[in-house]
Amino acid sequence: MTTVHDEPQPDRELALELVRATEVAALAGGRWMGRNEKEEGDGAAVEAMRKMLATAHIDGTVIIGEGEKDEAPMLYNGERVGTGSPPAVDIAVDPVEGTRLLAEGRHGATSLIAAAPRGTMFDPGPMVYMLKWIVGPDAAGAIDVDAPVAENLRQLAQTTGKSVSDLTIVMLDRPRHAELMDAVRAAGARLRLIMDGDSPAGLLAAMPEYPYDALVGIGGTPEGVATACAVRALRGGMIGRLWARNDEERARARELGYELDEPLTLERLVASQNTFFIITGVTSGDLVEGVNYGPRGATTESLVMRGTSGTVRWIKARHTPEKLADYRADAGA
Ligand code: FBP
Repeated sequence: MTTVHDEPQPDRELALELVRATEVAALAGGRWMGRNEKEEGDGAAVEAMRKMLATAHIDGTVIIGEGEKDEAPMLYNGERVGTGSPPAVDIAVDPVEGTRLLAEGRHGATSLIAAAPRGTMFDPGPMVYMLKWIVGPDAAGAIDVDAPVAENLRQLAQTTGKSVSDLTIVMLDRPRHAELMDAVRAAGARLRLIMDGDSPAGLLAAMPEYPYDALVGIGGTPEGVATACAVRALRGGMIGRLWARNDEERARARELGYELDEPLTLERLVASQNTFFIITGVTSGDLVEGVNYGPRGATTESLVMRGTSGTVRWIKARHTPEKLADYRADAGA
């Protein structure tokens, strides 16, 4: 009998295969910076990523994609990607994380892919949002998703050796976070509000060399599952819970067997340490630089990480004008 342990497991070469796909998505999407065309920028990145992913030596299934099959023709949930050769992997894609940031010409739009052995990624189904707490390695395990915010901040301060007033908490600027913002302020911590992009912000919170101590708030579940693959590699901590927008969504979740009270641990979000996470800058941000185009081609900056080894690589790449011409056709810009 063949067991899962006999199957070829994703190895380190996979990270370099996948960075090509986020690079081309960034190169194609980056052409749409500030043009106020959200769908077009995203569509260009999706198309470029899809083409490059088709050449990757994987038997991939998209668990986190651009939507259900009949809504989005490309990179939909359940789509098979890659050449079909082993290893068998679950894939999460976000060709543009921060479509509004890109369309409005703002900082911090990125393109990302995560991968993990087949059957290990949490499938959120129709659940769009989840509460997330992401912290760095020192504080991994310090957060109790059921505890009051003030208590979690006290634990965070204690484990990082800071006082609560030194902590910087990053959060999406959304009306639904009004209470959470008040709780952080009342506890005395510093609050950094961002317009979009809780995945790169979560990475910044998980990396001790950057100024955020925690990301807190309700954001996209797809971004949550993908980011969990990065948090594994960064040895950080992550915990959350599904969040329903209304009674209808709550009822639907129960019908499908989702437990809304269940804490979503890192292990539940991705049940393997053998994760891969790749992120390339589309517009410049705190984590990675955006695409720069010029007469000699274009440059990209990416972060590539692997759960098993915990290695994080910054990859700067120069792409020739010839290659760019191919990608530009995909960008439609
Ligand atoms: P998109 O690029 O898919 O629009 O995602 C941007 C983002 O800010 C994510 O980083 C975040 O998880 C999610 O949207 C939050 O959703 P909403 O904008 O509906 O509050």
